[in-house]
Amino acid sequence: MTEHDFYLDRRALVTGGLGFIGSNLAVRLARLGAQVTVVDSCVPGCGASDSNLEGVHHLVRVIRANIADTAEFERELAQADIVFNLAGEISHSRSMEDPLRDLELNTVAQLKFLSAACALRRGVRVVYAGTRQVYGPAAELPVGEDVLINPTDFNGVHKRAAELYHQMLTRMGKLDGVVLRLTNVYGPRLGLHAHGQGFLSVFLRRLLDGDGIEIFGDGAQLRDPIYSEDVVEAFLLAGMARELPHRIFNVGGPETLSVAAIAGIMRDEIAPETAVRCRPFPPDHLAFDIGSYSSDTSRIRRDLGWQPRTGFRAGIRETVRWFAGVSTSR
Ligand SMILES: NC(=O)c1ccc[n+]([C@@H]2O[C@H](COP(=O)([O-])OP(=O)(O)OC[C@H]3O[C@@H](n4cnc5c(N)ncnc54)[C@H](O)[C@@H]3O)[C@@H](O)[C@H]2O)c1
Repeated sequence: MTEHDFYLDRRALVTGGLGFIGSNLAVRLARLGAQVTVVDSCVPGCGASDSNLEGVHHLVRVIRANIADTAEFERELAQADIVFNLAGEISHSRSMEDPLRDLELNTVAQLKFLSAACALRRGVRVVYAGTRQVYGPAAELPVGEDVLINPTDFNGVHKRAAELYHQMLTRMGKLDGVVLRLTNVYGPRLGLHAHGQGFLSVFLRRLLDGDGIEIFGDGAQLRDPIYSEDVVEAFLLAGMARELPHRIFNVGGPETLSVAAIAGIMRDEIAPETAVRCRPFPPDHLAFDIGSYSSDTSRIRRDLGWQPRTGFRAGIRETVRWFAGVSTSR
């Protein structure tokens, strides 16, 4: 069955759908003919923007509500054929500054939301946006799904708790949950002005403004950045899959690159005249730094037939093209 056949007229609820990844997914679902409802409370400091749904406003119903306040979207939840659960706070540094805020957004709100989903729409497929941050420092690369879970910050701990809610409720037959552990994502609609959206957001904003960039450390750390359309594809496939030998999947990019190489490609593509410098890690960041990371994606390739299609340079070109069409002050 094609994605179009599967999603046509399907009622999809997208939490966090005004944010970076959620809006890319909502746009794609709307274009596939799904009946899309977005629930997003536009949390200050997160990546929410109304303009992220530009071009599909007439196709997407937006409910401005905290996912914890389920009375605000009870009917939509009760009627959902599928839930894409992307609401959350992504900032590691902010989770260390204000752990209770992160707990509220990533864990308490998820528990209330999932409890309501079990009651109103028992057994519904829920695809949750997890994070590679749950792994903590890697003993070896690439990192597979079954290694020790050892997060270095509150965000990783809270996101792990939310994963476990999905797993536990699935085991009990109350939900049909799938967790996608995402690596560093970039692409159109990336939040450029929210604090703590990660180094790709900082590099992109500074280069688009014609400013130089600073790398924390010596630049040798490894990452496997992934383009947003490839992530959207993983969500769509996880939503469609019937036979699921596993419920947790890494979603990582096609190349493992040093942060210095990532910075160099971005600089060359966006603002070649600007400088890339290294500086020592700020001590508060070093405390929760995970070192090098790359995802072992063999499980999702095998089970869901997914693969990342967009190389980093090509993805950055697409991203820059997209931002050239909108104001970077968003
Ligand atoms: N961007 C990445 O590189 C990355 C990496 C790993 C995991 N993730 C996960 O993917 C998901 C989406 O991330 P993103 O990069 O699009 O971030 P984002 O900040 O752009 O989007 C998150 C959205 O969730 C909304 N939100 C947060 N808490 C909410 C709540 N309680 N009720 C309703 N809305 C709420 C925010 O307003 C925001 O619009 C998050 O769960 C994040 O943990 C992202």
